[in-house]
Amino acid sequence: MRQKILVTGGAGYIGAHTASVLDKEGYEPVLLDNFSNSDRTLLSGLRKITGKQITFHEGDCNDRSLLHSIFQKEGDIAAVIHFAARRYVGESVEKPLYYYRNNVGSTITLLEVMLEHGVSDFVFSSSCTVYGQPDELPVTEDTPRKPAESPYGNTKKICEDIIQDTVLSGQPIKAAILRYFNPIGTHPSHLMGEVPHGVPNNLIPFLTQAAVGVRPELVVFGDDYDTPDGSCIRDYIDIMDLAEAHVQALKFLRSTEANSLFEIFNLGIGEGKSVLELIKTFEKATGVSLNYKIGPRRPGDVEKVYANVDKASEVLLWKATRDMSESLYNAWQWQLRLGKH
Ligand code: UFG
Repeated sequence: MRQKILVTGGAGYIGAHTASVLDKEGYEPVLLDNFSNSDRTLLSGLRKITGKQITFHEGDCNDRSLLHSIFQKEGDIAAVIHFAARRYVGESVEKPLYYYRNNVGSTITLLEVMLEHGVSDFVFSSSCTVYGQPDELPVTEDTPRKPAESPYGNTKKICEDIIQDTVLSGQPIKAAILRYFNPIGTHPSHLMGEVPHGVPNNLIPFLTQAAVGVRPELVVFGDDYDTPDGSCIRDYIDIMDLAEAHVQALKFLRSTEANSLFEIFNLGIGEGKSVLELIKTFEKATGVSLNYKIGPRRPGDVEKVYANVDKASEVLLWKATRDMSESLYNAWQWQLRLGKH
């Protein structure tokens, strides 16, 4: 019998890729999404990849009665992976209440409903944004968190605290907090990828849109940072590596005989790459010459951040294996599939 795993935000970029790995590893993903920042294309891609119908519930993760009915109807949900959240820094500055209601509210509602239904295993999507600009690199899970730069970042920090307090109170919740660095790439079939709504905020969708001609050019936000080539440094991790880490985290939770548990894991490749290095790798991997220019710094950007991933390797028995060229090639193939969208 395949164990059912509720995947909130299951039609989103990371959610849908994780669902494909869950299916491959013998689990039954049950998706919940309200399409506020996701896309039906990913759901149909997922169905093609898995060759299965994949149970899908449309609705809001803040909707307590909907959550109750899903737990009741499905009957035997074994664990929850909680992706559903808004994730745009700028938007969060404009609409803080919406972000707190949506991201924090949904996490509280979900935990309450899980407790009522006796479901304990919980994987939570957090972000390296909680580290801000760290004093020392690479960052470990014990690196102190910095005050959040935006309401979005604060929602991740607050949710981590809420989950930790719940576990500390002795409630039967076993939680793995996954702090993502920068996810890139697509499923190797190119049937799923990132579908940005409006002008993309993140580097890769903007870059591939510039390469295909949707945007006139890519602007590199600053080349006067204290880095070897002056552009910012990040830890870019392939989406399939990231998805696999979720399934490893799930296996870890399910095999740990504890009533309550709270563990944080960094998910990156453990190496920093600059924006200019990434552009060169993209050009080499795809043969496309990118139209880009150097512009001013983007307010709020950290100069450099990359992960120490020893804990994930030791405890989750997981390591990122894909190469940046492969991720960028896949991202380009996905953009070609989307066309000028
Ligand atoms: N960049 C550009 N040009 C662009 C877009 C991005 O040069 O058009 C650069 C940024 O300056 C940064 C790098 O590309 O150096 C990556 O930028 P992204 O926006 O893709 O990702 P961030 O590292 O800024 O985002 C991360 C997390 C978010 C989180 C944010 C908070 O992915 O979840 O940090 O700082 F909100």
